[in-house]
Amino acid sequence: MDNLIPVINKLQDVFTTVGAEAIQLPQIAVVGSQSSGKSSVLENIVGKDFLPRGHGIVTRRPLILQLVHRKPGSPRPALPDDPSSSGGHTDDGIDGEDVEEWGEFLHAPGKRFISFAEIRKEIEAETDRVTGSNKGISSKPINLRIYSPNVLNLTLVDLPGITKVPVGDQPEDIEKQIRTLVRSYISNPNCIILAVTPANVDLANSDALKLAKTIDPEGNRTIGVCTKIDLMDAGTDAMDILSGRVVPVKLGFIGVVNRSQADINTAKPIADSLKSEEQFFKSHPAYQAIAHRCGTAYLSKALNKLLMHHIRDCLPDLKTRINAHMAEAQQAYNAYGEPLMDKFNKGSLMLQIITKFCSNYCGAIEGTSRDIQTN
Ligand code: GDP
Ligand code: NA
Ligand code: MG
Repeated sequence: MDNLIPVINKLQDVFTTVGAEAIQLPQIAVVGSQSSGKSSVLENIVGKDFLPRGHGIVTRRPLILQLVHRKPGSPRPALPDDPSSSGGHTDDGIDGEDVEEWGEFLHAPGKRFISFAEIRKEIEAETDRVTGSNKGISSKPINLRIYSPNVLNLTLVDLPGITKVPVGDQPEDIEKQIRTLVRSYISNPNCIILAVTPANVDLANSDALKLAKTIDPEGNRTIGVCTKIDLMDAGTDAMDILSGRVVPVKLGFIGVVNRSQADINTAKPIADSLKSEEQFFKSHPAYQAIAHRCGTAYLSKALNKLLMHHIRDCLPDLKTRINAHMAEAQQAYNAYGEPLMDKFNKGSLMLQIITKFCSNYCGAIEGTSRDIQTN
């Protein structure tokens, strides 16, 4: 099962390259109002400081973030996309064999980023490159993979926060544009919606939950994440929210405590923050009894499990869609010849990946491998 998500990650890169938007892959999208703590939640899940943060609108392009778990001490794979190399190469420009985690951007093939500060800079530069530097937004995603022994296999999408008042180069209808952008991700029936709501605002006013509800009214694929639990008024707690008594969300509400602005200013390491978070829930009189299902670690595990089940359920349909694409490409090839071969080859690569997956993991999906082979 653990190999399920790397397979899907590979497929996703191929789809992004060919622009095959018709094929919808399972992802987890993080939605919420500006400054609700979305970037903080993502950073905590990854366990690294690498996302641009700040007041106001910082995330101005979707960020498709693939976390790839790797075994400690395993050799780094060759970089197949390096244009200067035909068969992939092992010299990836990193000094030393002991580098265990790094980032790779789809827009910068053949380059590994071992500094998370550099990753942050690259996200900022790549955001500005497309949107300008004065708070404009774009729906064109940035694709980033992070390889690390310290992550679970997850694909996450960070989206611009919902905002009402245009600033800088933002258009008058900024709110509408962002909602449209967010909807384009979360209306994918294969998308799990991580609806981030700060505990210190009225849940009834949660932009995240309101938007999620218009797309997923039953709450079948929405997880509530309640941030800023540490900032609630003395004498109040989030037990009603976390137990689903306020807004019922089938998959539940998970409470987290991220770093405060003061923690960020004093550069409190994420590892310390995760410890404080655990301590917070264990020692808080209201949360003690449910501490085992609170916090970032629990959120990560819950997400990974959910995603794996989800992907398994989606595979038969995914295969049908690719077969349809292949048939189209074959027809187009028959009609026009050479130039369309690239599309066709990518389709057969996708099928090979799925075939491999199915023969290894999906014996239960009847006849899948046989179908593919006879196509
Ligand atoms: P985003 O705009 O939704 O991505 O929000 P950010 O992650 O950038 O967070 C916005 C601000 O809220 C930052 O100053 C964070 O330090 C702060 N913040 C986020 N989550 C928490 C939390 O759980 N507790 C506290 N005290 N502050 C938080
Ligand atoms: Na922000
Ligand atoms: Mg953000």
